[in-house]
Amino acid sequence: MIENMINFIKEKLELKNPKTAIILGSGLGGLVDVLENTKKIPYNKIEGFPQSTVKGHKGELIRGFINNKEVLCLNGRFHLYEGHDPKVIADVIHVLKELGIKRLIVTNAAGSLNLETKPGSIMLISDHINFSGKNPLVGPNDEKYGPRFPSMNNAYTLSLRQKCKDIAKELGIELKEGVYLMVLGPNFETSAEIKAFQILGADAVGMSTVPEVISASHCSMEVLGFSVITNYGAGLIDNTPSHKETLEEAKKASEKLIKLVTEFVKQGG
Ligand code: HPA
Repeated sequence: MIENMINFIKEKLELKNPKTAIILGSGLGGLVDVLENTKKIPYNKIEGFPQSTVKGHKGELIRGFINNKEVLCLNGRFHLYEGHDPKVIADVIHVLKELGIKRLIVTNAAGSLNLETKPGSIMLISDHINFSGKNPLVGPNDEKYGPRFPSMNNAYTLSLRQKCKDIAKELGIELKEGVYLMVLGPNFETSAEIKAFQILGADAVGMSTVPEVISASHCSMEVLGFSVITNYGAGLIDNTPSHKETLEEAKKASEKLIKLVTEFVKQGG
C-alpha cells in the first residue's frame, strides 16, 4: 500500500530528489506562493493518505523550488483533535521518509505563555513538552524506521537552530527561542492551565507539531520548528483566544517566517 502511494506521489509531483519537507500550520499557507514551478496533489486524490478537516488547512501535497532547491510542502496537517489516530501522523512522516526526506521544517500557530513574547513574534522551538497524552509511536515498532525507545535529546537539531539564528540576525528578524507545549485541544486552555504551563517551563502552547517531531526524530530526520505567536494564552491579558484571531495574526506574522524559511533553504538548509 505505502509503496503504491510513494510511486503515485513521485509520478504525480514529478519528484526528483527533495531532501527537505515543510509542514505548514494554521494561516501559514502563504509560503506556497514563494515556491517556483509547483506541482500539487490534494490529499484526497492520494489513496490511503489521511484527510484534513480544519478551516484554513487546505490539504495539499506540493512540490516546488526555492532557488533551485526542490522542497516538498504539506499544506494542511493532521491534528489529533480531529480524531485521527496518532499513528496516522507517523504514517505521514513515513511517507516523507520513503520519499527521501532528510530534514523536516514544522510550523505552527501558538499562544504565548509570557508577556514578552508578543503576538506577531516568531519562536524557534528549542524543545517540547508532550502534554497531549498521545504518542504516534504507540503500537508495534517498525525497526526499519527507528528503535523502540528513541531518545528525544536534540530532537530540534541544534546545528539547524544555530544556522537559523544566524540567518535571522542577517535579515534583522527578531527570533526568540523557547519550549513548545502541546495540548490535545480542541478547546483553548483555561487560565489555570496557562499558569500551570508557565510553571512547567513552556513558552508557547499549541495543538500540533509534537507528534510529527516525535515521529521524524524516531526515524532520524533533522528537525527545525517554528511557532508563530498569534495570541496571549488565556488569562495572560484580558483576552479570549479565538481561531479567527489565530488565522489573522498568523497571516500577518507569516511574512517574517516565510523570509526566514526561504533564506534558510536557499543557504543550503
Ligand atoms: N492555545 C492552543 N493552541 C493555539 C493557541 C492557544 O492559545 N493559539 C494558537 N493555537
